[in-house]
Amino acid sequence: MSDFAYSERDFTRIRRLIHERAGIALAEAKRDMAYSRLTRLLRAGGHRRMADYLDGLERKGSDDDWQDFVNALTTNLTSFFREAHHFEMLAEHLRRPGAPAKQRIWCAAASTGEEVWSLAIAACEAFDRIDPPVEIIGSDIDTACLQKAAAGVYALARIEDVSGARRKRFFQRGIDGNAGLARMRPELYKLVRVYRCNLLDARWPVQGPFDAIFCRNVMIYFDKPTQHRVLRQMAPLLRDDGLLFAGHSESFFHAADVVTSRGRTVYAPVRGAMGNAA
Ligand SMILES: C[S@@+](CC[C@H](N)C(=O)[O-])C[C@H]1O[C@@H](n2cnc3c(N)ncnc32)[C@H](O)[C@@H]1O
Repeated sequence: MSDFAYSERDFTRIRRLIHERAGIALAEAKRDMAYSRLTRLLRAGGHRRMADYLDGLERKGSDDDWQDFVNALTTNLTSFFREAHHFEMLAEHLRRPGAPAKQRIWCAAASTGEEVWSLAIAACEAFDRIDPPVEIIGSDIDTACLQKAAAGVYALARIEDVSGARRKRFFQRGIDGNAGLARMRPELYKLVRVYRCNLLDARWPVQGPFDAIFCRNVMIYFDKPTQHRVLRQMAPLLRDDGLLFAGHSESFFHAADVVTSRGRTVYAPVRGAMGNAA
């Protein structure tokens, strides 16, 4: 693993830059991962040393160069109906008495889209129709992921854990040149829009109110003060009876002034909290 010169100092610098740009606190153990994720960019730029690549990035990196850097270092692991109990709870929530005629869901770390499309399927099932009165916004910092999310095209292996009934009802298998792939059924694309959104930014390109926000398995990369800041910005976008769904290993008890627990990694906004809308 020595195609390119790579020192401890380079890694420290990478950690600082990705933390500044995306809020990601890269663990000490990710030294080799950072190297292997960035080598493609070094090669493309004709660099032989990590330090040269980082110098160029810091001195005259374009928006695209920075986006490539961020895209390379994000971890995008996801799957359809990950943490299935959340989708059951969401379906109940969408059917709650007094819910607005049109409901809105934000998937704030959408990655390659499996979560977004699982939300679309859950909404169809909740209302037992292919055109439920639900709008789903997917966002992520990683633009390469978002392209995949918007396309909604997956290798069949990615959907093999989805039940046969769901596969039949909500996916279309590719033929000829698209054999081995599946895409979402066309009606579902009308429910979903995707945007780039860096949760670290002071302004987001999404507007509330939302009936539910799925912000799962992303806060885990942020330190606690950053999590708290993001939650302070996010909670006011929820309706008073809205729900925030977090990842299985994320807990927001340190932000009890902003959100309060409603069960397994599900939270409701605390009204009157600092930073919340009146
Ligand atoms: C592990 S994936 C989680 C995907 C999905 N939410 C799930 O639970 O299956 C984490 C995602 O967070 C995104 N991410 C990391 N930092 C981010 C930031 N500052 N703003 C928005 N998204 C970010 C990554 O690009 C990645 O797609």
